[in-house]
Amino acid sequence: YNQKMRKVTIVGGAGNVGATCANVLAHDNCVQEIVMLDLNGNMAKGKALDSWQQAPIGEYSSRLIGTDNYADTADSDIVVITAGLPRKPGMSRDDLIAINAKIVTEVVGKILQYSANPIIIVVSNPLDVMTYAALKASKLPAHRVMGMAGILDTARYRAFLAEALNVSPRDIQALLMGGHGDTMVPLPRYTTVAGIPVTELLDADTLDKIVKRTAVGGGELVQLMGTSAWYAPGAAAAQMVSAIVRNENRVFPCCAFLNGEYGINDLCVGVPVKLGKNGIEKIYEVQLTDDEKALLHKSAAAVREVVDVCRNLGFA
Ligand code: NAI
Ligand code: 2OP
Repeated sequence: YNQKMRKVTIVGGAGNVGATCANVLAHDNCVQEIVMLDLNGNMAKGKALDSWQQAPIGEYSSRLIGTDNYADTADSDIVVITAGLPRKPGMSRDDLIAINAKIVTEVVGKILQYSANPIIIVVSNPLDVMTYAALKASKLPAHRVMGMAGILDTARYRAFLAEALNVSPRDIQALLMGGHGDTMVPLPRYTTVAGIPVTELLDADTLDKIVKRTAVGGGELVQLMGTSAWYAPGAAAAQMVSAIVRNENRVFPCCAFLNGEYGINDLCVGVPVKLGKNGIEKIYEVQLTDDEKALLHKSAAAVREVVDVCRNLGFA
């Protein structure tokens, strides 16, 4: 794999998603150093030390370091941003705009003081808008700034399908597009069980229920736990890092900057992409029916509304 990539920083690394991402990434053993930076420096140091002490058991050598000092992030190849507030019950992802836009913009500025040309993976919500804000604040090429949402959302969709079909979640391949919100667009027509179209295995009503449950999948967890999820989100972000570090050219739904693809301009939303050593190596434009296109455009319009709010607040 890409031997030159050795250092990953996670900003928000003491939090639920950031610390999980660091721990999953360590088990993948694909980088030399994982820096967990957080405003809460002691929690970052503690969680990094705990994860490092797991290395003999988990059989990895990635060194984990906790800090609140950006100097420790110097020369990071990849930076994952999970800093920000999570959703609380009753809060929409968009309620977080003002707070998280400020955090993400500041984080990007500080990161770039110590790392000249990193690949940035945004996780903070509202995801598509924070990705756009990070891209604009960083002035990096669009293929180096992306957001994590589609891997998580398809994982939820795949898990629900696996349960309904009593098959392994591994054997379900699925595509989902649009924003990371209630308007996301799971695509049953592009969902298979080991190549068998899922539309041949489940009736339309059951599929529709699963699609709807997926779209509000994040909210279901917020209701249960009083804060948003972290195991699947942290693992999903780690999977993106791993694909880039290993230069695997893996194909995932990710939040990417669109410049005319799908008829969408100057916006970050979820689409299928190829991830390799340069970040987003390719955006796939798949054929959509008129109905699917309408759903994607509705979702993009919802994201654009929040981008406008963000812009009026002075971000993006
Ligand atoms: P958390 O509260 O557990 O962790 C957030 C961490 O960020 C805290 O440790 C906090 O100290 C730190 N932080 C806040 N401001 C900071 C700053 N300026 N610099 C450095 N660190 C800072 O929250 P959790 O559950 O880890 O969620 C993090 C974010 O990820 C939230 O915005 C949440 O909505 C989002 N999220 C996104 C998902 C997605 O699919 N894209 C899935 C799950 C969560
Ligand atoms: C999730 O989907 C809230 O974005 C967060 O779990």
